[in-house]
Amino acid sequence: MKPISRRGALTMGGLGLVGTAVGGTGLWRELTSSTLDPSGGESFTEPKALRSRDGRLQARLEAGLGTHEVAGRQARTMGYNGGVPGPTLWLRPGDTVQLDLVNRLDEVTNLHVHGLHVSPEGRGDNVFLAVEPGQTQKYEYRLPDDHPPGTYWYHPHHHGNVADQVFGGLYGAIIVEDPEEDLDVDRERVLVVSDLTLDAGGSLVTPSIQEQMMGRQGELVLVNGQSEPRLRAHVGERERWRVVNACTSRYLVLEMSGQEPRVVGRDVGRLAEDTALGDVLLAPGNRLDMVVDPAAGSGRLVARPVDRGGMMGGMMMDGDGPGPGQDEPHTLAHLEVGPGDAVSRDIPRRRPRDLRGEEVARQRTLTFQMGMGGMMGGGGGGPMSFTIDGREFDADRTDQQVRLGTVEEWTIGNDSPLDHPFHLHVWPMQLIEADGQQVSEPLWLDVVNVPARGRIKVRVAFEDFGGRTVYHCHILDHEDRGMMGTVRAD
Ligand code: C2O
Ligand code: CU
Ligand code: CU
Repeated sequence: MKPISRRGALTMGGLGLVGTAVGGTGLWRELTSSTLDPSGGESFTEPKALRSRDGRLQARLEAGLGTHEVAGRQARTMGYNGGVPGPTLWLRPGDTVQLDLVNRLDEVTNLHVHGLHVSPEGRGDNVFLAVEPGQTQKYEYRLPDDHPPGTYWYHPHHHGNVADQVFGGLYGAIIVEDPEEDLDVDRERVLVVSDLTLDAGGSLVTPSIQEQMMGRQGELVLVNGQSEPRLRAHVGERERWRVVNACTSRYLVLEMSGQEPRVVGRDVGRLAEDTALGDVLLAPGNRLDMVVDPAAGSGRLVARPVDRGGMMGGMMMDGDGPGPGQDEPHTLAHLEVGPGDAVSRDIPRRRPRDLRGEEVARQRTLTFQMGMGGMMGGGGGGPMSFTIDGREFDADRTDQQVRLGTVEEWTIGNDSPLDHPFHLHVWPMQLIEADGQQVSEPLWLDVVNVPARGRIKVRVAFEDFGGRTVYHCHILDHEDRGMMGTVRAD
């Protein structure tokens, strides 16, 4: 099967359906296939839901290393509150969220609420905090009353061990519900997609330095920590599936055979108009929100391999198997649809804010670069440097000074042969231009893929929250190696 091109996936249309050939995925599949139902694995489960009440959610998140149920077996991984993924936080705009992060790992960690539009200062979404083993850190976030609804997530963000800890099992979903909900659904589901590699004894496998340079990809691609779970639905019962790409580096383009799901949201808020599932690229950190009106029969949710470039003609990959684009498709889940009376329901259009009519106070250009022989600042060594504008991350340096209350236009370039997903904390980005083309409808994201040798343009309204935070490549191995910068708005 020919891998789809990242350019094709980034632009809005034009992806034909490819067959759903599914190859074996190695040892683990062979070991378990005899014990599993041929139509798929265990029945689908979701992480525990923690819901805010009367404008408040108070919860404790314990990050620990232990035995967790992963891919249907007992595995030694990290997890929050004893599970992979951690609990799902259900919030509403205007909520106050108080989280106690308890560090039961044997290494430093912290907590980031990815995509939430909250203060990055103090005990807020402050990624400069370090929570030592045995310590508890109190976090408090106040969501503005007009916080965009959507699917967000949380994960550790201590520079230098983000990739290891996310790959290790530390992530969970956050849902911000829509006070003006106009989608009439019968069932909501949260699907946190992640990947990891386990050895025969059920322990995490640490990827080689070469794999880390490319961005590690786990052999197992899981949904809520499960391998190919089975979901049951009924004709006439509309479902809403929220999907988080919590993979450390893996890009996902999803397809569902036998069904025609419509994507109604990506990262931040609702889309102006729904789109086909296969047209959406989920870079690491991206989310999507889709409506499934089940059609009789069955369906299979599949992640197609995505070509995200290569290094020096594959030289870096020697001895490490195929590059990401040559990977096999992965089956994520199976859907069995029971009978029912079909009802046709439409999907209302929305009018997201459009910054194209607003005054731009300043334009900037930031460029992802990879070079030979970097100083490898917290990354643990290797032949390549990973920088933005030629500089590795320095927590004490402010790279971009922005005036609070202004709209800026940022062009993000990529001088390297690999794709890099650009992520900005706190302030969402409106995608203006990708692949030299203007984006027609307002589209709000917090992670935007920047294709190899390509560039994208976004606009950002630096409003509501002043303070200092970061932007970075969301291939977490690259972030840990220095592909991150700081921005201050005041
Ligand atoms: Cu999802 Cu700075 O991260
Ligand atoms: Cu983030
Ligand atoms: Cu990168």
